Amino acid sequence: MDKRPASLKRITTSVAAKKYINKQVKEIKKQVGDKKVLLALSGGVDSSVTAALLIKAIGKNLICVHVNHGLLRKGEPEQVKKVFRENMGANLKYIDASKLFLEKLKNVEDPEKKRKIIGKVFIDVFAKEAKKLKGVEFLAQGTIYPDILESKGIKAHHNVGGLPKGLKFSLVEPIKYLYKDEVRVVGLALGLPKSMVYRQPFPGPGLGVRCTGAITKDRLTALRDADAIVREEIGKLKNTPWQYFCIVPPIKSTGIKNGKRYMGWPVIIRAIDTRDAVTAKSHEIPYKILYKIRDRIIKNVKGINRVLLDFSDKPIATIEWE
Ligand code: XMP
Repeated sequence: MDKRPASLKRITTSVAAKKYINKQVKEIKKQVGDKKVLLALSGGVDSSVTAALLIKAIGKNLICVHVNHGLLRKGEPEQVKKVFRENMGANLKYIDASKLFLEKLKNVEDPEKKRKIIGKVFIDVFAKEAKKLKGVEFLAQGTIYPDILESKGIKAHHNVGGLPKGLKFSLVEPIKYLYKDEVRVVGLALGLPKSMVYRQPFPGPGLGVRCTGAITKDRLTALRDADAIVREEIGKLKNTPWQYFCIVPPIKSTGIKNGKRYMGWPVIIRAIDTRDAVTAKSHEIPYKILYKIRDRIIKNVKGINRVLLDFSDKPIATIEWE
């Protein structure tokens, strides 16, 4: 196994982070010289810190590709564009593939099939872009140390894939010996915004596994709007849960609107605490916050007529609904 060097002390301060950054910048320059490097930038902590390090080392020779699969949270593609293009001057290719993903996912109910389709279409879109670019020899990846330690763990279990044959790159993995908390310290020292560095974990298939069953555009929009409200309100807590989000299942129940029967979907709120996502405890959200979330969702989110709370622990319930 690829082992963390004993000489690498735990990074807990910005001084230590800056030292690490300077060392990595030198190493990246040595490894890639004046060649081009490609990176799939999701906007998650790991890929964002990897991008920021490479931008510092090689500037526009890093080509970031941000694929919007239409299953991202509200405001995420905009944040990626703002932070990387405007603030960091990155060479960023933004690809809005949301229509293609929705088409491929049409009428697909099975969660594992949905995951496979999302993974495959993602690789196809990314590979198509990669083939258009000339002279790219390196691929940067935001691998972190727990990914190496737990190669049979959650991330590896869920995120199957790889680049198609014919696309061969040497890897650049500048944060592969870091733990998540160290990645965050390095990210802050690189000037990334707190909202990006402290983002809660978000599954690769994104809102796709929270818009359960066969995804439709309307229900996905309702989920995205409700999720933004849930995250904003729960995010105001002093102790935020480890992960908090909502689910909009394809179930309709009756409601009343302007004196008429009205069929709508429920929003299900889920907030959990965990150390490693293998087991999890439901996080107790104050009722005051729940009422606020309920009122904002019912008033503002089209198609929703009920707000429910999932307070199940794992086991028996998994964290996600699919
Ligand atoms: P479950 O639902 O298995 O989730 O209790 C455990 C953790 O893994 C995340 N998760 C995923 N992450 N791709 C990912 O990268 C996925 O397909 C996926 N499914 C679940 C989930 O959000 C939780 O943190």
